[in-house]
Amino acid sequence: MKILGIETSCDETAAAVVERAADGSARILSNIVRSQIDDHAIFGGVVPEIAARAHVEIIDRVIASALAEAGIGIDGIDAVAATAGPGLIGGVIVGLTTAKAIALAAGKPLLAVNHLEGHALTARLTDGVAFPYLLLLLSGGHTQFLSVDGVGNYRRLGTTIDDALGEAFDKAAKLLGLAYPGGPEIEKQAAAGDAKRFPLPRPLLGRVGADFSFSGLKTALRIAAEAAAPLSDRDVADFAASFQAAVTDIVADRTAHAMAAFGALHAGIVAPVLVVAGGVAANQAIRSKLSATAVARGYRFVAPPQSLCADNGAMIAWAGAERLALGLIDTFDAPARPRWPLDETAAARLGAGAKGMKA
Ligand code: KG4
Ligand code: ZN
Repeated sequence: MKILGIETSCDETAAAVVERAADGSARILSNIVRSQIDDHAIFGGVVPEIAARAHVEIIDRVIASALAEAGIGIDGIDAVAATAGPGLIGGVIVGLTTAKAIALAAGKPLLAVNHLEGHALTARLTDGVAFPYLLLLLSGGHTQFLSVDGVGNYRRLGTTIDDALGEAFDKAAKLLGLAYPGGPEIEKQAAAGDAKRFPLPRPLLGRVGADFSFSGLKTALRIAAEAAAPLSDRDVADFAASFQAAVTDIVADRTAHAMAAFGALHAGIVAPVLVVAGGVAANQAIRSKLSATAVARGYRFVAPPQSLCADNGAMIAWAGAERLALGLIDTFDAPARPRWPLDETAAARLGAGAKGMKA
């Protein structure tokens, strides 16, 4: 079956066509991503209203391109999938409403997909990974470990108690005077920097559990950068390298703890797999440290290609395909949701700072 997937939850307007064979294998027939980064760069972050308007302006052209590149018309599609949340609500409404209109007009089933499920299932699209596996989702809005036990079946093993990792990269870049989005800029600068020059804290390192915290690290970076101001190019590179080294140590340590929790949930699992997803998974330093952590603990490490780690329509089409194969079709009153945790049982700890919001 061929699924059209639409993604509009943040600052990418994306559409793709993915084919799923009866044996569960997949083929990406097209994957069009139009980034709005230039529209938001001068504001140093994504402006929700600008994002929603930009989605409206180009969504139909992006979908037309995805169909054209796949060499089919709407008639050749078996279902329409769209991100229904979580994300910036204006953008989510644009994509979901467009999907509903197409599905209704063409008489196709609708699949209202959780964006995080799209990230979570990408490793099955790219590598055919079998359930269960341990997922580390590292994006601009989410930083969490999930035991991916099946389609629609997720258990959260750890999350951030303040900032998401991508957000921490973006904020660190901003205070070093680097462009938005900050993750790739920090990585570029870090390549030429001395990671030992500025000792920065590694919050929660060695602590029980698999939660993350980045706000103390960000504050320490700000205080150190202010003390060293004005910053030379050398200083910026050394700060970037020191920050990336701290983050990499934290991610490796938390992953080791999450593996212990995953192992306890799935006693006797013979070939455990660690999957990394989300935009921050593009970072090579984090990838290689995770790969080493996985090997040291007997895990296979799977990191989808960069283009499928960041937001895209193919992951939404694929999650839709997995749901359709199980008969999990949605009705036309499926709501757009700003918040939508994958593990509904892992209650957001409201009242405990930002944890409730970010969880
Ligand atoms: O998953 P994503 O494309 O969008 C969502 O948040 O859903 O992730 C975007 C985040 C941004 O914060 C960006 O700075 C970060 O991923 N990022 C990186 C790198 N490339 C993108 N962070 C660190 N190193 C990178 N190379
Ligand atoms: Zn995402």
